[in-house]
Amino acid sequence: MTIRGEVLRSAQGDSTLDVASLRAAEFPWTSETTYLNNASVGPLPERTRVVLEAFNRKRAAPFQLPDRDIFAMTVESRRLVAELIGASPEEIGLAINTGFGLSLAARALPLRRGDIVLTSDREFPANVYPWMMLKDRGIELELVPTTAEGWPDEDRLLERLRDPRVRVLAISLVQFSNGYTVDLERLSAATRASGAYLVVDAIQGVGQVPLDVKQAPVDVLACGGQKWLLSPWGSGFVYVRRDLIPELRPAITGWMAFEGTDDFTRLTHYDDTLRGNARRFELITLPYQDFAGMNESLKLLLGTGVSAIAEHLRTLHAPVLEWAARRNVRVVSPVGDRASGIICVAPSDIGGAFRALKAARVICGMREGGIRLSPHFYNTVEEMERVVDILEVS
Ligand SMILES: Cc1ncc(COP(=O)(O)O)c(C=O)c1O
Repeated sequence: MTIRGEVLRSAQGDSTLDVASLRAAEFPWTSETTYLNNASVGPLPERTRVVLEAFNRKRAAPFQLPDRDIFAMTVESRRLVAELIGASPEEIGLAINTGFGLSLAARALPLRRGDIVLTSDREFPANVYPWMMLKDRGIELELVPTTAEGWPDEDRLLERLRDPRVRVLAISLVQFSNGYTVDLERLSAATRASGAYLVVDAIQGVGQVPLDVKQAPVDVLACGGQKWLLSPWGSGFVYVRRDLIPELRPAITGWMAFEGTDDFTRLTHYDDTLRGNARRFELITLPYQDFAGMNESLKLLLGTGVSAIAEHLRTLHAPVLEWAARRNVRVVSPVGDRASGIICVAPSDIGGAFRALKAARVICGMREGGIRLSPHFYNTVEEMERVVDILEVS
């Protein structure tokens, strides 16, 4: 098999990755199936599956998993996540999904009657319902209409941030239905200036779009591990900006959210002092096997470098964009700075095209009137060319 664009080099230039070897070693099923549905569920690399199975083998006889090993593993999880997004481990709380972090933000940020939470229309519901639920406290959710293309209208969002009642901007880093990547630095600067909180649903971006919360400060960022992080269901995290941590009191608390609970010989010496770091947001007990798996996947992604992954994904779009231009098919996704690894097209017979792809063992998604192709770093230009060949005759 010939594979173009094979060698990925990390932005730091300290590692290379051969896509053909990656496929053979970590995703052996790619020889039979073209999987372009990472925006729905990312596959587990072989190394992650092996770690999960080994962990569960020990779990069957739990004396093989002493507390100190479990807690050392969670320390590693926070460290790896922090490295991925430019945060410090103290700012990372482990969580079971994205909704957890978004609900935490909705419930713990100091909001009052009359305040407005701003988001873009067509956001994924995980970033809508927790805010809608604040209605009974007199807090309004304002859905700012998208642009004609269906993307978040950043100019309008910025305009609305001038209203002092707007206390939160809650937005996805990458839109689930078209791959639009927000200009986080711009939104960050605007919220820093207005004093509104910036809350980010990052699940469609982290792992495929470079992100550095030092460069583009955000207040709360929520992310599940199940998509671009190639991690088990049940893994994820919430980032809370360091200075904000002491101000947020979680509505739901785990018993290890409090100081002094690391000493299991003195657990009934109750002290209601919440931890000073983001562990105050963790709902221990967590699905530890999932974090064992996540650690392995994160090491693989970090070893490649997210910048290199992003670059590779852009090269994968070329055949689809070329075909769409030639056949006058609408591309629902942006190109250029606001693009991500997700590319969506809307041919006239979407249902027929989707069925043809499925029949040819190409797995992708259909979302909001478009066919969503979401390749990851193990996909190849040849696979995308095959997609085009199928779309051409469907
Ligand atoms: C933007 C976005 N947010 C959140 C989720 C999922 O949220 P959770 O991790 O809570 O299931 C998805 C996809 O399922 C998504 O596309």
